[in-house]
Amino acid sequence: MTKDLFERIRQDKGPLGKWAEQAEGYYVFPKLEGPILNRMSFKGKKVITWSINDYLGLANHPEVLKADGEAAIEHGMAYPMGARMMSGHTPFHEQLEKECAAFVHKENAYLLNFGYQGIMSAIDALVTKHDIIVYDMDAHACIIDGVRLHAGKRFVYRHNDMESFEKNIKRAEKMAQETGGGILVITEGVFGMRGEQGKLKEIVALKKQYNFRLMVDDAHGFGTLGENGRGTGFEQGVQDDIDVYFATFAKSMAGIGAFLAGNKDVIQYLQYNLRSQIFAKSLPMAMVKGALKRLDMIRTMPELKEKLWQNTNSLQLGLRAAGFDLGSTQTCITPVFLNGDIPEAMAMVNDLRENHGIFCSIVVYPVIPKGLIILRLIPTATHTQQDIDETITAFSAIREKLENGAYKQVILSH
Ligand SMILES: Cc1ncc(COP(=O)(O)O)c(C=O)c1O
Repeated sequence: MTKDLFERIRQDKGPLGKWAEQAEGYYVFPKLEGPILNRMSFKGKKVITWSINDYLGLANHPEVLKADGEAAIEHGMAYPMGARMMSGHTPFHEQLEKECAAFVHKENAYLLNFGYQGIMSAIDALVTKHDIIVYDMDAHACIIDGVRLHAGKRFVYRHNDMESFEKNIKRAEKMAQETGGGILVITEGVFGMRGEQGKLKEIVALKKQYNFRLMVDDAHGFGTLGENGRGTGFEQGVQDDIDVYFATFAKSMAGIGAFLAGNKDVIQYLQYNLRSQIFAKSLPMAMVKGALKRLDMIRTMPELKEKLWQNTNSLQLGLRAAGFDLGSTQTCITPVFLNGDIPEAMAMVNDLRENHGIFCSIVVYPVIPKGLIILRLIPTATHTQQDIDETITAFSAIREKLENGAYKQVILSH
């Protein structure tokens, strides 16, 4: 007999869904209210927010709010209607593409409505079943899903491990000789969970020995690294060797949308083959004009990135001086590694939010090994030294309680 699909869904809510009853509204789907700033409201209390990727503090900047508002009043949220290829094209979309491309030193760029779907679709468009994909084990879900669409072979290498990378490139070359295909290597510029940079320099160096094309998801590097925030390729001096560069507008740009950049012929190919854009409505004008404003600010206001890094250095130095393990972060992403189980992690975050006014994300098993807890802090240009000092004091207090076993058997108060 055929099973009822929903019966299974009721029984197995999925790896995250199974926590819904205990976690919903607090640890997952929390409602942060008020302007997007260093301090926001959570359940009626002010908290220092360390979980928002508004790196440069543009989300609530008066000039950005003005540009967004004016564009929405002029065009509404509908214009232009239709997909880019059909009726959703405007000179402003084209201008934004030109400016994004110029900013990251590529010949041309193509806008995406969402980074996630855009990356998936780009991977799908760039390879055929004869081609081979080689990608980092810790790649973001959108890369994993893009690879899932691939009908040919794929090889995954251990995270940032160049020995494993080279071994897999060799396997891929051998395979490509049999299939007559090519090789696409995919990595992130910055790995969002632990803050390490992808080893772009080392990967690019191997281009001399092996024949592959390199795609870099620089969601977290764009705006935060390299001269003027031009990204991880600039930070590592290898931008010219990135064949397909990706950045989202959802982080430093504090908007929505994304872009791919590369050589003219590759971008033209994507314009005609990227299913996520051919069969979906174009980005609304308010997003496009808003993105032009943000890009201009990133380009002309280096003080935003300077402030971000001043806060980052102060936070990271302060936490390290207080004895915290921040792993091997090389970016603004600040993971604080602690030891404990999931109930302890929940009790600790509850204590941070309720008694210390600090809101940050927790990462636990199965994302990281059992017994490990990461409290992940995202500094921004809007944070103050007082936010940082209060946070370090609070972290020292909760670490002491964690080590004393105080979070075992805690009845949560939210
Ligand atoms: C590394 C990385 N790639 C891609 C995305 C997806 O981008 P978007 O939010 O524009 O869909 C994210 C998250 O936003 C990300 O962290």
